[in-house]
Amino acid sequence: MLAESLALALDPVLLARRSGIDPDPWQAQLLRSRARQSLLLCCRQAGKSATSALIAVDEAIHRPPALVLLLAPALRQSQELYRRVRATLAAAGDLAPPVIEESALRLELANGSRIVALPGKEATIRGYSNVALLVVDEAARVSDDLYQAVRPMLAVSGGRLVLLSTPFGKRGFFHHEYTEGGPGWERVKITAPEVPRIDPQWLAEERNRIGDWWYRQEYLCEFVETDDQVFGYEEIMRAVSNDVQPLFPNGRLVA
Ligand SMILES: Nc1ncnc2c1ncn2[C@@H]1O[C@H](COP(=O)(O)OP(=O)(O)O)[C@@H](O)[C@H]1O
Ligand SMILES: [Mg+2]
Repeated sequence: MLAESLALALDPVLLARRSGIDPDPWQAQLLRSRARQSLLLCCRQAGKSATSALIAVDEAIHRPPALVLLLAPALRQSQELYRRVRATLAAAGDLAPPVIEESALRLELANGSRIVALPGKEATIRGYSNVALLVVDEAARVSDDLYQAVRPMLAVSGGRLVLLSTPFGKRGFFHHEYTEGGPGWERVKITAPEVPRIDPQWLAEERNRIGDWWYRQEYLCEFVETDDQVFGYEEIMRAVSNDVQPLFPNGRLVA
């Protein structure tokens, strides 16, 4: 048991395997990376959220007492991330310290580490300091205001920042950091043909279904020109996933 615990401390990939994930090379790289700032440009279904949860749990278990913040574009996505964190901790079993305190979107471990999933609203997230790790899932859809509000929380602690996202046009901080953010970032790009779990035939059918423009953005991770297809986007995403709330839940446009 002690030997396994030590091995886990040395290699977070073992923690991933415990939760049923045999990491792809990019996931293993990110789990072992000590880069201050990492930027993962990933297609849909690459494993962004699963990886976010793993990095968070690894940090909390192995570098206590760590304050780990998880940020997503909206509360619903934060809740989903939090559920994955809980599942990852459960899979770690007695190799993780027990949870001593827990509320809707946060928990504290017996080793003093805390994991907090932030609701995607700027007003409610100010005030954390000494942050060891900030993970931003679907970062291209997080507002610039929110990003500017959370960045200073890492300043004093010298904490680590990890952005994971599918691109969303040539705009916003995610695009800016990826294309012009300078050498201070570890950058990794993962397209759908590189993900072993995505069936090439399914991908070819998907391309026919959603068309070239969407395919390039969602599966080839290209920062395609933003155009006026906002409604087209929502329609497409509703068709391909249940990640996006319906625009017309009661037959009426939500303002
Ligand atoms: N390395 C892996 N091995 C097995 N399953 C994986 C791996 N990475 C991710 N998955 C699974 O693939 C699915 C998509 O992962 P998810 O993290 O939701 O993708 P994303 O957030 O990028 O859309 C999930 O069921 C997840 O558990
Ligand atoms: Mg996800």
